[in-house]
Amino acid sequence: MNTLKVQLGERSYPIYIDSGVLSDSARLNRHIKGRQVLVISNTTVAPLLMDRVCASLDPSLKVSQVLLPDGEEHKTLGVLEQIFDKALEDNHNRSTTFLALGGGVVGDMAGFAAASYQRGVNFLQIPTTLLAQVDSSVGGKTGVNHPLGKNMIGAFYQPQAVFIDPDVLDSLPDREYAAGLAEVIKYGLICDPAFYEWLQHHRDDFVARDKAVLSEAIKRSCAAKARVVAEDEREGGVRAILNLGHTFGHAIEAAQGYGSWLHGEAVSAGMVLAARLSVNQGWITDAEVARLVQWLEAMSLPTSPPKDMSAATWTEHMLRDKKVVDGRLRLVLLAQIGEARIVDDLPRSELEAFMATFSSA
Ligand code: NAD
Ligand code: GLY
Repeated sequence: MNTLKVQLGERSYPIYIDSGVLSDSARLNRHIKGRQVLVISNTTVAPLLMDRVCASLDPSLKVSQVLLPDGEEHKTLGVLEQIFDKALEDNHNRSTTFLALGGGVVGDMAGFAAASYQRGVNFLQIPTTLLAQVDSSVGGKTGVNHPLGKNMIGAFYQPQAVFIDPDVLDSLPDREYAAGLAEVIKYGLICDPAFYEWLQHHRDDFVARDKAVLSEAIKRSCAAKARVVAEDEREGGVRAILNLGHTFGHAIEAAQGYGSWLHGEAVSAGMVLAARLSVNQGWITDAEVARLVQWLEAMSLPTSPPKDMSAATWTEHMLRDKKVVDGRLRLVLLAQIGEARIVDDLPRSELEAFMATFSSA
């Protein structure tokens, strides 16, 4: 068992990473408070994993289930109500435990529901996509989308524990798996050059879904995320580096319609844009960007944004980003491979001219 810890004082929590951890009844039940559990999943994941998880729960617990519709387009305030409806119908009280079983969409929604149901209840994460295992289940960002902007309604709310079983990824479609790899590569780019090189070295093993390599990558990704979150839980500073590519990516997701581009795909194209902008600052080289692009393409990930987004569309979406402070856009760029740099003084005209080079709209 690999156990990491997110160090946040009295809100610290463990991340358990191991094959078969979902069937580790004793460990799972140790983190359940009260006598009630609401398992929140979706219509795709539940048929695959719900029985296994429920079999691990103490039989004396009162267990309810709510299955959300599957897809980023359902990550809305309206669909969130289904969780509250079920919790209230089944009389879940303040000592209940909400258990998220699914990818980042389920995890973000279950976490936000846990943060707000009766002003906050116990919350556990069982992430079932690569993206959720390396990123969204750790760190306490929860929420839903708004038609005008991605993840615009939400709360910081940490889980009490995260249970990661790499074996559940066996059923993950290739496109979703690749989208998760984009976030793995992100950690190498922003803060761990040795990890970046290690990942490149094991490129083919990732395509082949080699279990040992995958487990190591999940562990190193979670360790990187836990370090950053422990330093800056609420993104007052350094946590922003986790958003490499996301300002561009969120604009793509919102402008193209949620669910059209996967989150990891939008981040992939966004990271290349951030890398190219870093070349313009004289920080990294064209050769380094070319190496990144070739790698992402080998993983079937997009490396350029949709051409139909006009400069005005880019500006509109990027200025609505949560990282805009007093009208100034904070971008995450690369000082070098393995070191992110937060920039808030890039002239708007320079950014607009840069975006215009990718647009035929
Ligand atoms: P997702 O939750 O939509 O899951 C992707 C697809 O895989 C879905 O169809 C899902 O039903 C299916 N699936 C899940 N587990 C499966 C399994 N084991 N086998 C087969 N199919 C499975 O998408 P995602 O990529 O996991 O998460 C993306 C979301 O996460 C976005 O909404 C993004 O904003 C959010 N996110 C949040 C954070 C955070 O810090 N909270 C970080 C990154 C991303
Ligand atoms: N995915 C960005 C963050 O958790 O801060």
